[in-house]
Amino acid sequence: MIYFKADLPPTPREFIILRMDNSDRNPDYWSRKLQEVDIATFDFSTSKPRGPVVDFAREHMRPGATVLDAACGGGRNAHFLAENGFDVYGFDLSAVAVEFIKKRFEMFGLIGNFVVGSYAEFPYESDMFDSAICVAALDHDTMGNAGKAIAEMRRVLKPDGKMLLTFDPVEQMQDLREDAEILSDGTMNFVRGRAQGMLFRSYTNEEIKGLVGEDRIVSFKTVPDGDRIIIAI
Ligand SMILES: C[S@@+](CC[C@H](N)C(=O)[O-])C[C@H]1O[C@@H](n2cnc3c(N)ncnc32)[C@H](O)[C@@H]1O
Repeated sequence: MIYFKADLPPTPREFIILRMDNSDRNPDYWSRKLQEVDIATFDFSTSKPRGPVVDFAREHMRPGATVLDAACGGGRNAHFLAENGFDVYGFDLSAVAVEFIKKRFEMFGLIGNFVVGSYAEFPYESDMFDSAICVAALDHDTMGNAGKAIAEMRRVLKPDGKMLLTFDPVEQMQDLREDAEILSDGTMNFVRGRAQGMLFRSYTNEEIKGLVGEDRIVSFKTVPDGDRIIIAI
């Protein structure tokens, strides 16, 4: 039985506190959001891991496993994994996110390895990780890039490794559709409004199964808030 410091209730969707005065400083949504956070005064108790990550760690990861957090963002999940003794690696397209997570780990005396990288080509050797997670992130790029990310997760996982993927509710962001240009695969590219700089591709369950490969799925759950939680090999 692994001991976990956090036996947590469901975590809030919004995980950062925003100052609304500088929203046009950086055109990339995720970088902009993290640039709006003052890390010195940030209340990290509002940045807890997602429940499925806690469950995945408990049920599918061996103690001390080497784990990749693909598209790690500000580090809510990586922080939890490192605190609980896992050997954590992570990357994100946003250099601001990577800088943030490095500072976060330093502030908490945690050990982790973080670099800037993209779904197209993960910055790691093959067969390196026991486990991999990609949380609330595959739907923030095009379908083609989400497919590349899943293929790359398989490349960097050891042959018996498992991955955790989460997809947002199918209706997510639809209320802001008018602020987006629609790309050829249906991805919304937000060009104005509060989501400016964000990509979002909404997936049906069938599309997710197609992307991941039905025969590779160990479990597929839809949780009450509409998130789809997939464990796959
Ligand atoms: C909703 S945030 C989730 C962050 C983190 N996984 C979490 O659960 O807190 C989505 C993240 O995906 C990253 N992202 C989007 N497209 C990416 C890509 N092609 N390669 C790597 N990261 C990407 C963004 O920079 C952002 O940090």
